[in-house]
Amino acid sequence: MDGNGRWAEMRGQPREAGHKAGSAAVRRIVRISRRLGIDALTLYAFSEQNWGRPPGEVDALMGLLHEYLLSERDEILENGIRLVAIGDLSRLPPFVREVLDPLRDASKINGRMTLALALSYGGREEIARAAQDLAKDVAQGRLDPNAIDVEALAARLPSLSVGDPDLIIRTGGEQRLSNFLLFGAAYAELAFSDVLWPDYTENDLFEAIACYQKRERRFGNVGKGALSNPEAIVTSPIMGA
Ligand code: IPE
Ligand code: MG
Repeated sequence: MDGNGRWAEMRGQPREAGHKAGSAAVRRIVRISRRLGIDALTLYAFSEQNWGRPPGEVDALMGLLHEYLLSERDEILENGIRLVAIGDLSRLPPFVREVLDPLRDASKINGRMTLALALSYGGREEIARAAQDLAKDVAQGRLDPNAIDVEALAARLPSLSVGDPDLIIRTGGEQRLSNFLLFGAAYAELAFSDVLWPDYTENDLFEAIACYQKRERRFGNVGKGALSNPEAIVTSPIMGA
């Protein structure tokens, strides 16, 4: 969800105003995602690296997160949404944990959609933590090092508890992942939108999904057409694509 700061700067407003408008976009997109029947929506709300922003901006973001969790609590519960959080939650201020933790708990039996908030999240940090977990298990004799494979590592990544992401959308015009879902992103489809996050609407999401639906996902294999013609597999000039 990128572009809040620029949205505000364009209007001659402080960056915090952009984050406030961004939280209205979160409400819109969560609501429509639930209506569309999306299984899981992971929102990159705050990265590990975002702690380095000016303290006033960090405080404003934490305040908005607190406000969001309070104001959306009923809607989340009434709509069967399971709220989870991924990232280093120990860094979040207590006043955020005080609303976040009870909502995670109260919503854990819900099954209509999982809303995962990435808070103090970093894809590299997540992988490093999983590696640490695996190493501890090996050191304590609970795990055979030869059993460490892609699945074993993926099983330790909280971001993949909802499965691999199918589509990763980045708004705000930049074309990079910025440490989001790195392991799960291996075969995710990527969509980049120039729309600044506060302006992102239901229609923008529909367009991204429609574009996703037209793509052919090959996961390093050959396309469906090629499979029906075995010779095409041998002669395909595109290796590893
Ligand atoms: C993204 O908007 C919101 C968060 C990181 C929480 P930015 O604040 O990065 O907005 P720009 O990139 O400066 O426009
Ligand atoms: Mg940005």
